[in-house]
Amino acid sequence: MVIDEPKQSGATPKAAVKPAIETQANSSSSNTKESRIYIDGKFFPEADAKISVFDHGLLYGDGIFEGIRFYNGRVFRLEEHLERLWDSARSICLEIPIGRGEMTEALLETIRQNGLNEGYIRLVVTRGVGNLGLNPTQCNRPSVIIIATTIALYSKEVCETGLTVVTCATRRTGAAALNPAVKSLNYLNNVMARIEANLAGADEALMLNEAGNVAECTADNVFIIKRGQIFTPPISAGALRGITRSVIFDIAAELGLKISETDITRHDVFVADECFLTGTAAELIPVIKADGRMIGNGKPGSITLKMIGRFRELTRETGTPIFV
Ligand SMILES: Cc1ncc(COP(=O)(O)O)c(C=O)c1O
Repeated sequence: MVIDEPKQSGATPKAAVKPAIETQANSSSSNTKESRIYIDGKFFPEADAKISVFDHGLLYGDGIFEGIRFYNGRVFRLEEHLERLWDSARSICLEIPIGRGEMTEALLETIRQNGLNEGYIRLVVTRGVGNLGLNPTQCNRPSVIIIATTIALYSKEVCETGLTVVTCATRRTGAAALNPAVKSLNYLNNVMARIEANLAGADEALMLNEAGNVAECTADNVFIIKRGQIFTPPISAGALRGITRSVIFDIAAELGLKISETDITRHDVFVADECFLTGTAAELIPVIKADGRMIGNGKPGSITLKMIGRFRELTRETGTPIFV
């Protein structure tokens, strides 16, 4: 899936077996209108939106990001995304060079500048320009980059029929090495898992933690449903504190469904009645096969479909207005 992510057009992976679904964002480069990208307080046409090759975001993956969606002229769960961004920054001792109010205005203005009503924002804060050594004290000022684009991650058909996952051999990075709760620019762990899914011809990779329990997928949180109850791995299992994941807790409460955070094994996934993934880019998407085993009856389950319906309503009806 897209780390939550958008793949630029023309970047088809050379996999031995092609995944059943190509995850694609409609990059602005495929649009007729060139997009305008925010970098440190100024807007640039896409062709001129550049950062230094000495930026430690590029050299070391030293930085943080958020993927944010906007629907129907409103940014969905903006406050929660900004809170997670600031938490990630604090954890890696990165001082975001602008305040939350200014960041909010920059995000909204980027959307307006691109004339979009629905789409996806990539917000990146890099450590900034330093020397070739990795010491972040050499970097004087972090850079803020905001890209607003349109996105179509999965075909309508896949959203309706569900996707397939395989368990990958690449384990999710442990919290003692680099806490997966930090949404950092260092996604090589997830990229390696994504490559495994591509090679296996699956739509997504199920990533386990060092204990062998399910952590998450490469860019999504995992949920299973058994006998009417919903289960998802705890953050301590190596799952990102997904914003969409938190929406699922809200919807479950509204619908009177029991939801618990608990360790989940591959076996639990195989014998689940239903399974779905959540992520800003993927939204809420059913899983119908794991490691070749059909989940439930091999069709998106009734609870999953009900939740998708409510999720869609929330995305259309709530959020921070863009054009006021
Ligand atoms: C590794 C990982 N897990 C889970 C998620 C889902 O999080 P969210 O719902 O906040 O997009 C993402 C999305 O960015 C991710 O990259």
